[in-house]
Amino acid sequence: MINISFSIRSIFALVCVVVVTLQSTAQAVKTSAKIEDLVKKMTLEEKVAMIHATSSFTSGGVARLGIPEIVMSDGPHGVRVEHGRDWEADKNVYDSGTYLPTGVCLAATWNPSLGYEFGKVLGSEANYRGKDIILGPGINIIRTPLNGRNFEYQSEDPFLISRMTVGYINGVQGQGVSACVKHYIANNQEVNRNFVNVHMSERALREIYLPGFKAAVTEANVNTLMGSYNLFRGQYATQNSYLINQILKTEWNFKGAVISDWGAVHNTMEALWNGCDIEMGTDLSMLPNPNYGKFFMGDTVLKLVRSGQIPESLVDEKVRRILYVMTKTNMLDGKRMKGEYNTAAHQKTAATVAEEGIVLLKNENNILPLASSVKSIAVIGYNAERKQSMGGGSSQVRAFYEVTPLEGIKKMAGSTSITYSPGYKIERGAKADAALIQQAVDAASKSEMAILVVGWTHGYNYSVWSDNAYDAEDTDKPDMKMPFGQDELVKAVLKANPNTIVVLMGGGPIDMSEWIASAKGIVQAWYPGMEGGNALAKIIFGKLNPSGKLPMTFPKKLDDVPAHKLGTYPHDAKKNLYYLDDIYVGYRYYDTYKVAPEFAFGFGLSYTSFSYSNLKVSGNSKKVIVTLTVKNIGKVAGADVAQVYVHQQKSTLARPEKELKGFQKVFLNPEESKQITITLNEDAFKYFNENLNKWVMEPGVFDILVGNSSRDIKLSGKVNL
Ligand code: GLC
Repeated sequence: MINISFSIRSIFALVCVVVVTLQSTAQAVKTSAKIEDLVKKMTLEEKVAMIHATSSFTSGGVARLGIPEIVMSDGPHGVRVEHGRDWEADKNVYDSGTYLPTGVCLAATWNPSLGYEFGKVLGSEANYRGKDIILGPGINIIRTPLNGRNFEYQSEDPFLISRMTVGYINGVQGQGVSACVKHYIANNQEVNRNFVNVHMSERALREIYLPGFKAAVTEANVNTLMGSYNLFRGQYATQNSYLINQILKTEWNFKGAVISDWGAVHNTMEALWNGCDIEMGTDLSMLPNPNYGKFFMGDTVLKLVRSGQIPESLVDEKVRRILYVMTKTNMLDGKRMKGEYNTAAHQKTAATVAEEGIVLLKNENNILPLASSVKSIAVIGYNAERKQSMGGGSSQVRAFYEVTPLEGIKKMAGSTSITYSPGYKIERGAKADAALIQQAVDAASKSEMAILVVGWTHGYNYSVWSDNAYDAEDTDKPDMKMPFGQDELVKAVLKANPNTIVVLMGGGPIDMSEWIASAKGIVQAWYPGMEGGNALAKIIFGKLNPSGKLPMTFPKKLDDVPAHKLGTYPHDAKKNLYYLDDIYVGYRYYDTYKVAPEFAFGFGLSYTSFSYSNLKVSGNSKKVIVTLTVKNIGKVAGADVAQVYVHQQKSTLARPEKELKGFQKVFLNPEESKQITITLNEDAFKYFNENLNKWVMEPGVFDILVGNSSRDIKLSGKVNL
């Protein structure tokens, strides 16, 4: 009897698969028929109008045929409400939206389902504001702590980026809005971003810099992708035959549209032949009343086609891709999904990402969480009161509200008395201000506890996005030292009151060497978005157990960073930049070359502790199953991230000491344990052998290392493949 019902069920399942496949095929046929029909009906002028901007943030449509303009908007962590058609007009728009934590905070959650929720908020608010493309996620590899835009990106590790990015894109595109994964490729610094000519080995390209984009295209089916400013191996990335025609559109079969970064197109024939589909933001667009027909992919193209210098089919191909994007987002049938704006649900997502992304780095003698009996707290540091949302450049967001750390602490403190002193002023080049430091020291001496809120800082609004900014577009940090004399402030306050917590804000590591030994409590808060102050206060007062894990290594000092030790940052005299660190980025370098970091990739403390046991590894070269048990052996509920690293014992070419190939965040009550299973497919064991110019799976023994940071391996097993 069982057999019969089993076979009926399997037949039913098969029929369902066949029906769905037929339906999607039929849909695809219908879509391409519709696209072909439109292309046939279009004049050459109408086609050319679609492949370049018609304003700062729109590209052409064909009203006659019911093809709307495409409306684009930054940015990766909020819908920029200033964006309409032109920069000036937009400044009169003073409504405001949901300001999510920035990319590094999202990645620090190590929670892919939050990636989805994050993207869903963006898609919904984009719909509400009539936007068709959100210009995010930004996923460039964090290879130097100095990059001004690290805050917008995610990690030093391609696997973590891939997992978080797929969720984010599915969240956005599930709302019928296109994501635009950026910046393709190797835009890993802001110094001379428009001219730097990046060179790297094929292996570094395949193993480190491409995987995030490959996952976005082949797993999340991202609709659009943004070409980056820099050159790659001598050709601008946005008009790069190898990157776009070969890898993106042939190897990965990308069906969507390549959008240039704003001003990233430099040559008509290269842009036309090498895969750029929509040219945006070319310099002349910054003039008053620009003539967009003068773009590289503008009226010139009409002449080139009519004189037979290029085939019209080249333009048709671009138009097809743009129409494909429109069919994927209901733009042609006018069925835009209804969006929502500034809802409690969106703000809850912002809160959850901040709560799960803030990282507890140090907690000596359990100085944290603060006891509710604490009588007085001195909050010190301008970052405690500074609103960050309008900082950073193109990713700025006019926030519906932003709870600063000071506001969050005050709200949570109850009867505890709170005093505040800025401790330093934000002025480029400002040294330590003795009077401000003295004021802070006095406040700290008179209080039971002190909370310093220091670190990096954004600029403050679009027109001066890089003034006083250390985390912003168009600028890199000069070094890893905190600016504005903050180190002097931290040392003085720690001396005045050892019961001090140091809260760091910003997009990545700083050099803490001058004071870390005397700081009992250190918290990394990133730019935690509109609910960041509340999330930070919940963690400080123990209403919430922190579970963030570093998505990038915090090195002790800049000299330890491979991009600076081995590379040619920012570039040589001819603006060539050689990634001589190669595949040894982040923990792949520190762990292989035994350079101790300040805090390791994947590291983050909790108010509870976890035990790891029962590791079992089984399988074959197609699939390896890793199971293990994680138990909360402390007194409060919390979450840990079991990270699975792979090490090949013997390989033809050298490989890093370990490589992240799986992870799972697990939430546990006290005494609760869970068995988790992580499946590694064959890709987890391959590396790119550039002598053979292909991915290889070499038979042999692989170590399977499980830890809750790249340097804290709890269990290890082996598998012979
Ligand atoms: C900027 C950024 C890009 C942004 C675009 C539009 O220069 O590089 O990330 O989406 O221009 O503002």
